[in-house]
Amino acid sequence: MRIVLVGPPGAGKGTQAVRLAEKLSIPHISTGDLFRANISGQTELGKLAKSYMDAGELVPDEVTIAMAKDRMEQPDAEGGFLLDGFPRNVSQAEALDELLTGESITLDAVLDLEVSEDEVVKRIAGRRICRNDSSHVFHVTYSKPKREGVCDVCGGELYQRDDDHEDTVRKRLEVYHSQTEPIIDYYKAQGLVVTIPALGPVDEITRRALEALKREDATQ
Ligand code: AP5
Repeated sequence: MRIVLVGPPGAGKGTQAVRLAEKLSIPHISTGDLFRANISGQTELGKLAKSYMDAGELVPDEVTIAMAKDRMEQPDAEGGFLLDGFPRNVSQAEALDELLTGESITLDAVLDLEVSEDEVVKRIAGRRICRNDSSHVFHVTYSKPKREGVCDVCGGELYQRDDDHEDTVRKRLEVYHSQTEPIIDYYKAQGLVVTIPALGPVDEITRRALEALKREDATQ
């Protein structure tokens, strides 16, 4: 399957993407994680991305699209992928369409995680991620690591993301409403959007997502 995951910052996209990708045996491609890996590796791309991410702004389309394209062209993504955080505006969605059309492939679904702004603020405020791999995600209340400050998966140090501070979160939410939400209408016009409520236990949301994707698959 080829799936795009969409939802506001802190909706639980990364949390669900890891589980869904495993269940569906497809790679999880997160542009946020790719940028953070570049920042850790102190690459030129990482230095550029950091200035935008710390301000809560989108990294320019040109570099983002090139990075996503390069990742989607890796052999493990040949049979499908789960995109998390890409596309993030209409021009990235158009670029993705162009890329897929060139390969004669199509998206199967756009999974929209619906959650209130109050809840995302709580989720982001308590989020802690691993220094070794930013897809290892915890929460100080909702998803506590076994040992405080230590990643259950790899033993890495847990920390709060630089862009998870209050002012930046406010900016990221503004950017989500003005630039990312319009892609939901873009994909609705293609009949691809499945919206699920994303409030409740993590496993329950994974179950809802898998059921919704199964229904979507059956209608195609
Ligand atoms: P990115 O890393 O993609 O951030 P985001 O979209 O803002 O999403 P988050 O990672 O904040 O949240 P999430 O929905 O994954 O939630 P999570 O699962 O962690 O992007 C960061 C930045 O990179 C952007 O601002 C931009 O600058 C740049 N960027 C990335 N892609 C780009 C693109 N395409 N174009 C341009 N720029 C781009 O969960 C949040 C917390 O809640 C966790 O602590 C988790 O444990 C907890 N939680 C999850 N589910 C539940 C639940 N059901 N109940 C209770 N708690 C839960």
